[in-house]
Amino acid sequence: MKRNQSFVLLSLSFLLLFIPMTVAQNFKDTGYLTFDTKPMGTVERPLILRTYCPDPKLDRNLVLGNHSRGTSVAKYTARSGKENNSVQSPIPGVPAAIAVNLGKRLSYVWDTTECRLLYAWTDGFLDMKNYWGNKAVGHRKGFGYVPELYGFLFYKAQGKHPIHIDGKSIAELGAPRYLGYDLDKSKQPVFSFSAGNHTIQFTPRIGPDTQTLQLTLATAGKEKVSYKSPKTQIREVSSEPGKLVVVIRPNAGDRYSSDQKAAALKEATIAKGEELYNSMGCVACHTTDGGLNHGPTFKGLAGSHREFITASAQKADDAYLIESIQNPGAKTVKGYLMGMMPPYQLQPLEYDSLVLFIKKYK
Ligand code: HEC
Repeated sequence: MKRNQSFVLLSLSFLLLFIPMTVAQNFKDTGYLTFDTKPMGTVERPLILRTYCPDPKLDRNLVLGNHSRGTSVAKYTARSGKENNSVQSPIPGVPAAIAVNLGKRLSYVWDTTECRLLYAWTDGFLDMKNYWGNKAVGHRKGFGYVPELYGFLFYKAQGKHPIHIDGKSIAELGAPRYLGYDLDKSKQPVFSFSAGNHTIQFTPRIGPDTQTLQLTLATAGKEKVSYKSPKTQIREVSSEPGKLVVVIRPNAGDRYSSDQKAAALKEATIAKGEELYNSMGCVACHTTDGGLNHGPTFKGLAGSHREFITASAQKADDAYLIESIQNPGAKTVKGYLMGMMPPYQLQPLEYDSLVLFIKKYK
């Protein structure tokens, strides 16, 4: 082989090896954003995106009350310079929110208009295809700027702004004003905003259990800070003048998939049940060894006699177990809090897998 040829071949093989690797490289390796459709960060290097964020049906009045509501406008044809008959709807997302990913364990969206945490999820982040366009085809979807949520959503903001300062809610102090974010020593974002005369710093972190969040709220002075929110379980970790640390537990259980062709389960198995028990956060509230937690233990549950706060007693058969997961509000076990467990919308074979898993613990 001539020198030239071998050089060309060598370069070619380099290219072949190199291009796919470069394209597949992630934010966590490179430290800068590539055109990955599904970028992910890590705990050590959170990925922070300021973007249109999807709206997982947040309450428009209570949660997104400070956002203006866009109106539809006539579409414009660039070539003729004329408006045409079709209508352009407002972009269906939350603008100027900040989405943060710490790898599979936690993603969350912090909103700079409301100055509050909007939602949090695990097992995914944002699918940016709508935003960046499809790499293979080379163009983006017309006006669909909003990335898609994928993963398992376990927390959704409820009610008015949860932070209260010296007994007054942020809503009473006037509209909050976003001041920006910094990274603390461990590279976690710390969001700052002001309300009335107060300046508040808000730091979300991965909580102590699966699908929990730890929130640190600090004020510039020695104000009394409290955190109240309906339909949310909040545990105070520590409190001192000017500082509050709380842990919030799952209050939602919605799955989002950006993968339309997600394979349907073929059969129910204990192994699948165990995987769901861990990935969907059941583990944060139910033990399998008789231990106490927020919810009843799974040990000895299947087939046992159950008593409820209002409904009449019954045996824990398969139908009851499935109902308890799909619609926990239907019956509340005596001795436990009503409305604590989030409802889970799953495939039929996933419910069956969880039932098999629960039955394993006699
Ligand atoms: C935030 C805590 C929490 C999470 C997360 C949670 N549960 Fe529960 N669960 C509870 C509480 C509290 C009860 C008892 C009150 C009631 O019946 O609603 C309960 C009740 C149940 C019951 C009925 C138990 C009995 O003693 O009759 C089943 C079955 C159950 N949960 C399964 C699950 C499964 C499966 C998951 C995950 C897919 C899950 N739970 C996630 C808190 C939780």
